[in-house]
Amino acid sequence: MIDPWNDIPLEIYESHMSLEKVGQLQALCGIMKEQFEVTCADTVMILGAAGGNGLENIPPERFEKVYCVDINQSYLDRIPERYPQLEDVTELICTDLRISADTLLGAGLLIADLIIEYIGYDCFESVVKAVHPEYVSCAVQADTGEGFVSESPYLHHFDGLESIHCSIDSAKLEKLLSSLGYRCVKNKVYPLPNGKSLVRVDGIFDEKTFI
Ligand SMILES: C[S@@+](CC[C@H](N)C(=O)[O-])C[C@H]1O[C@@H](n2cnc3c(N)ncnc32)[C@H](O)[C@@H]1O
Repeated sequence: MIDPWNDIPLEIYESHMSLEKVGQLQALCGIMKEQFEVTCADTVMILGAAGGNGLENIPPERFEKVYCVDINQSYLDRIPERYPQLEDVTELICTDLRISADTLLGAGLLIADLIIEYIGYDCFESVVKAVHPEYVSCAVQADTGEGFVSESPYLHHFDGLESIHCSIDSAKLEKLLSSLGYRCVKNKVYPLPNGKSLVRVDGIFDEKTFI
C-alpha cells in the first residue's frame, strides 16, 4: 500500500505549513535551530526530514554526519540542491520507519519533529533503541480537539493522513523516554498563530533514569 505521504507534493505540504495563519514550517525551523545547539554530539539524525526545513540552521562544520530520514524520496531529493553547503555530511535515507526502525544506525542527537504522530509510540521506541542517541528532542502537536490539519485552501490534500495519524501526548512521550533511560530536560510549548501549539520534549540519556 502506498503511504499517503507519498501522494502529497512537497510544494503543497510546505505551502500549507508556511501559511501565515498556520506558521508551522517557520516554528519548526526555529525549533530545529535550538535543537542543533543542545549538545555537542557530532552526528544528528532527523526523522521526517521532508525537504530539509530547518537545515539552514546547521553551520557547515557543525556535524560530521547529518542523517535525513523520510518515507518520501521526492522530498529528500530536494535537500542536496537546497543545502549544497552540507553535501559532504548529509546522508539521505528513504525508508518507512514502521518497517525499518530496528536497522537504523547510531547518532548522538535524534530529532523527531511532527513524525511520531505518523509512526506511533512503539515504532518511536524501536527507533530510539536502535539509534541510541545521547540526546533526543521531539516536537509534537498539542491536541486541541480540532482537526490535526489546520484550516487552509490545501486542507484536502491531507485527507489521506487521517488513516495513519494518531495524537501524541507529551506526558506519555516523557514517560516512554524515561522508561528507555532518558531524563527529561525540557517540556516547552510553542504557540502557533491559529491557537494551536507544538510541544517539545527533550531527554538526555542517563542510566539512573530507568523506571
Ligand atoms: C509533518 S511532516 C514533518 C516534516 C518536518 N519535520 C518539517 O519540519 O517540516 C512528517 C514527515 O514525516 C515523513 N513520514 C511520515 N511517515 C513516515 C514513516 N513511516 N517513515 C519515514 N518518514 C515518514 C513524511 O513524509 C513527512 O515528511
